Amino acid sequence: MSEGPTSRELTLSFSVGLAKSEAFPLLLRELTDGLHRLGIEAQLVAGGAVVHRGSSIGSVTEREDGGSVRLTWQSAPWSDSAPLKIALQCSGEGTGSRITLEVQGCERPIGDGGPELLGWLATSFLAPALHSLAPSTFGDWLTDRRARRPAGPWSEETYRDPKFHWPNFLLILDRLPLGREDRLLEVGCGGGAFLRRALESGCSAVAIDHSPEMVRTARSLNRTAVEGGRADIREGEADRLPVPDEEFSCVVSTGAFGFFPDPEAVLREMHRALRPGGRLAIFSATSALRGTPACPEPMASRTHFYDDEELREMAARAGFASVEVEQPTLRRYAEEAGIPPEAMALFEGGGGAQLLLARRPS
Ligand SMILES: C[S@@+](CC[C@H](N)C(=O)[O-])C[C@H]1O[C@@H](n2cnc3c(N)ncnc32)[C@H](O)[C@@H]1O
Repeated sequence: MSEGPTSRELTLSFSVGLAKSEAFPLLLRELTDGLHRLGIEAQLVAGGAVVHRGSSIGSVTEREDGGSVRLTWQSAPWSDSAPLKIALQCSGEGTGSRITLEVQGCERPIGDGGPELLGWLATSFLAPALHSLAPSTFGDWLTDRRARRPAGPWSEETYRDPKFHWPNFLLILDRLPLGREDRLLEVGCGGGAFLRRALESGCSAVAIDHSPEMVRTARSLNRTAVEGGRADIREGEADRLPVPDEEFSCVVSTGAFGFFPDPEAVLREMHRALRPGGRLAIFSATSALRGTPACPEPMASRTHFYDDEELREMAARAGFASVEVEQPTLRRYAEEAGIPPEAMALFEGGGGAQLLLARRPS
């Protein structure tokens, strides 16, 4: 913050190891996605609008593809202060880039350039920034980014074709054969790879994920089925499934159950979504995989593992019948999926994989 007669200026700058031509578009994409998660829809193009919960809060006054975007952030309806001016710039620095954020006029909505501005800076801006640097916050961020709410180029590419999840997918489809008459609901669909394979049966499907980036990836991977009306991929939470009662003949979830904060609420939702007699299959990992390459830190300590009995009881309490939980061996499916021999040990023997099968009573 620098003292100035008319406007205080906030400047923040950091360097990244990416050439400017790569860094700038990626920054704008990540920023757009990050704002979306916070309820702000921003079109970071010249003249683009910024909308927060349905109300316009700003606009893009200038965008240079070479590396800068300037925005004005409207004043609050209760304030007659001038809009904030925000500039985001990316400039080349050696083989990498330097990103700079400049904000002018932070004191305006507060109406005080002294202690109140300092209070805002410390509590609303710096404290969350320092919190983001705490070790456990990095662990939470990495867990979300890679698995619990995947986002970013690595996850988008990985979950389009998650090589090491294919044995799980093949097992599920073996135990829960699908046909043209089936209407499938998948919960936690990631990049839509299981969905794509399931649709080969001729079934129709709805898939849900709470990561907007995964929804986008799954829609692009299943474009033909989505455009043909045979698949619908929706952003939503597993414990509040955005689907009507009793619509589905089967529900599947794979690789997601251990991340649900309230698994019983999810099971009740799955039960609600199933027709009477409908089938359920949930694939997850047991605690034997905690800390292995299949479930490394920081994910491992942020994943819930359930023993078979616990899972059986939860499903029964949610109203399911014919509940079976097993720890199948995946070797056969790993061979079929083309897992390389050096990684085969991960799929040998039982004890790591856990499969719950159940039915909604007729
Ligand atoms: C490890 S990924 C597995 C993705 C995919 N099923 C697969 O096996 O490749 C877990 C997925 O579950 C989703 N997920 C986790 N918790 C969720 C929740 N509460 N509601 C909806 N989706 C959730 C994540 O966003 C992520 O896409």
